[in-house]
Amino acid sequence: MGDERSMYALFDHLRSTDPLSRVEHPDYRPFWSLTRYDDIRHIGSQNDSFLSAPRTILIPSAFEEALLAQFGTSNGLETLIHMDRPKHLKMRKVTREWFLPRSIETLQAEVELLAKEFVDRMQEMGDECDFVKDIALLFPLRIILSILGLPREAEGTMLRLTQEMFGGQDPELQRGDSETAGLEVLNEFGAYFAEVIEDRKRNPQDDLATVLANAEVDGEPMNMLDQASYFIITASAGHDTTSAAIGGGMKALLEHPEQLALWRDTPAIDDRAAREVIRWVSPVRHMVRTATADTDLHGKTIRAGDNVALWYPAANRDPAVFEAPNSLDLQRDPKTQLAFGYGSHMCLGQHLAALELRCFFRELLPRLKSMEFNGDPEWIKAIFVGGLRSMPVRYQLG
Ligand code: HEM
Repeated sequence: MGDERSMYALFDHLRSTDPLSRVEHPDYRPFWSLTRYDDIRHIGSQNDSFLSAPRTILIPSAFEEALLAQFGTSNGLETLIHMDRPKHLKMRKVTREWFLPRSIETLQAEVELLAKEFVDRMQEMGDECDFVKDIALLFPLRIILSILGLPREAEGTMLRLTQEMFGGQDPELQRGDSETAGLEVLNEFGAYFAEVIEDRKRNPQDDLATVLANAEVDGEPMNMLDQASYFIITASAGHDTTSAAIGGGMKALLEHPEQLALWRDTPAIDDRAAREVIRWVSPVRHMVRTATADTDLHGKTIRAGDNVALWYPAANRDPAVFEAPNSLDLQRDPKTQLAFGYGSHMCLGQHLAALELRCFFRELLPRLKSMEFNGDPEWIKAIFVGGLRSMPVRYQLG
């Protein structure tokens, strides 16, 4: 899936002609595609009859087989997004407090400071930069590392591993062509975090790494694999998604200058605007659920064991729910959108993501005298977490 125009054209077509469509693609095991808002919200909330395991996202069959051979599951990892009840609830509880709005608000001063650091960096770069590579990719990475308690020196490794993990179908971001490359990435991630866990057991600090290293589930210490998986999901889910939202958000604001001016002049809409930008970009393209029983929908039957892909960008542009869905409207009600999913897996980091966007654009917009594209934006080729690879811009900052 490449640029947004062709992606939304395909979703519009499917939503109106075949809302539950069977996909048979040579590189993937067959699956159903859902593109209507109501269906996606309904199936997303049926967490006992549409499971997150054993197939959580679409991955090419060859890689799935390699994962099965090494780990015995087609996910490889077992992180929060791969789990179902009862384990999912117990594991989610471990960090729930950390991600509640009242805890996230305590990070505001730190996030504001980092936002200022990155906007200052843009200013120091002069009047041109690649907004995605120089800013959008690095700001959320710095924040998630800071929350986890990892040093700045870890940035390079984390950026590379996250991109290789989510780079999916993109030849520039993939580690290599072979199926074993994906396994190498997982193993490298795991080995890095195993060291951090050992350190925080010996030297507890006030960070999320210490919470994970010392967490107990059912009165027992969390095992090493669960801890490493937790680190991986937090570091990866908290980074690429938010980067995509900031990069795609900047592009959308440049294309809607009246909305840019509205946000700049109206701090009261910061939270709404941040969440509308997230609807607009919908960085997580899909999640997959597996049916536990036969289910009839739109005159067809999803059989027990079948996989269903929930296409969030399609839900977020459904005209049955959103008035003028293809217009960026920063004053839109932010509660309806599904970019963070729905049901018991709904994004744990959603308030952090919104805070990051709020702080970043609140710092940037009042200082921005002008900005324009300085070349064509390029898209990552990905069907899981998608966004821009590059967006050269020319600007004047005050
Ligand atoms: C889960 C989207 C930012 C951590 C999810 C899910 C979506 C999503 C759609 C649901 C998965 C499912 O239903 O199976 C996004 C978007 C973001 C974002 C669009 C940014 C704009 C973040 C951030 C964090 C984070 C900043 C911080 C660590 C997580 C975690 C889960 C999750 C841990 C798994 C929750 C569970 O399965 O119980 N996210 N996310 N996300 N997200 Fe986010």
